[in-house]
Amino acid sequence: MITVSHIVGARPQFIKYFPVFRAMERHNEKADEAGRIQDVLIHTGQHYDYAMSKRFFDEFGLKEPDYHLNVGSASHGKQTGEILKKTEAVLRKVRPDVVMVYGDTNSTLGGALAAVKLHLPVAHVEAGLRSYNRRMPEEINRIAADHVSSMLFCPGRAAVENLKKEGFTNVLNEGNLVDGAEAEPGPGRPDDGRPVVVNSGDVMYDVFLHARGLAAGKSRIVEKLGLTGRSFGLLTLHRAENTDDLKQFLKRAGFVKHVFKEHPILFPAHPRIRKQAEAHMQAFGRHVTLIDPVGYFDLLRLLEACDFVLTDSGGLQKEAYWSRKQCVTLREETEWVETLESEWNTLAGEFKGLWKPDQGEDTVYGHGRAAEGIVGFLFKYFNH
Ligand code: UD1
Ligand code: UDP
Repeated sequence: MITVSHIVGARPQFIKYFPVFRAMERHNEKADEAGRIQDVLIHTGQHYDYAMSKRFFDEFGLKEPDYHLNVGSASHGKQTGEILKKTEAVLRKVRPDVVMVYGDTNSTLGGALAAVKLHLPVAHVEAGLRSYNRRMPEEINRIAADHVSSMLFCPGRAAVENLKKEGFTNVLNEGNLVDGAEAEPGPGRPDDGRPVVVNSGDVMYDVFLHARGLAAGKSRIVEKLGLTGRSFGLLTLHRAENTDDLKQFLKRAGFVKHVFKEHPILFPAHPRIRKQAEAHMQAFGRHVTLIDPVGYFDLLRLLEACDFVLTDSGGLQKEAYWSRKQCVTLREETEWVETLESEWNTLAGEFKGLWKPDQGEDTVYGHGRAAEGIVGFLFKYFNH
């Protein structure tokens, strides 16, 4: 039996945890008592609105968090510090065999630091991503989380290469995909004491494939908003780099207003930008309609129905790619470089008009079995 503590706190982390949760349930269905994985879920409380947190637990049928830290919103230092302090107290009690952190939020960093300072091994899901822009809070969180982790699960090859450049030498299977639960560790085994880098594929692709088929049955949003058969673009914008500085926000809004003025645009707005966007709606233009954040199934249906995507979200860039929707990323750079190579994604600064890209590769982020592989691997490594 092994105990795994999962630390989540922000919207994308509930989504990333879902396939891992399912993979652990499947593992336990087949296991005897000694072979089980005990899952201890810690919710930091970084996100707390129903639409940003509980809704995803309801939609995915996730278990209730075992611990809720109620950290809430604050400056980076205060929020990360609170997460660190409160997570430490829980981990001292639970004493898990391994602590899993996801993505690149302040919950990722606070959780990873709390664990490693208690000498608990950290496994980082979505390791190795780099934008090479250290003004992004997420970039600092990723670098720090990666460098205190014992196990680094990369969503694709580019992330593995980034880690190699930073001195990680214990790379499993030469950086090729280690696919599904049956994968054997093979050469570069983790037990030589060095942190191990695994190209596991992207857990978000697992969720996407699972939920895509269910979305039509679970969501009526396209009908409710009267969008059936209509042409529209889907917009999300929430990154600190685009919202904290008014000049930068107006630059992004101006791009949407002028370049896409012929297209109706639907904008499910993150609470971070909600008030700002309402105050400056004229900066977007009248063709942009602001709505509350939507659930995951609603999002997938909107994605399927729309003509193109404008976003600064990490997750949505990939979901657009997997849905074969043209995506314009409202940033100066992206860590999801594979989506640029296929031309389904382009940076706003390089946008020359809507286009029809080639089909592109479906497997750059694995085959939709990343979580099974991660869970199988954890079990093999930590079940002594
Ligand atoms: C965080 C992540 C970002 C991720 C995003 C996912 C960090 C540094 N950033 O950004 O990488 O893309 O989550 O959505 O961790 N707020 C609410 N209700 C909520 C949550 C937030 O009103 O439930 C508002 C508060 O005013 C808060 C602001 O949003 O101050 C920002 O929230 P915060 O968690 O600090 O960062 P995000 O922008 O959500
Ligand atoms: N998402 C959602 N509802 C919304 C906006 C986004 O369910 O109103 C989903 C989106 O499909 C993606 C995830 O949330 O899977 C991404 O989260 P976010 O953009 O908040 O964070 P990021 O990926 O940038 O870290």
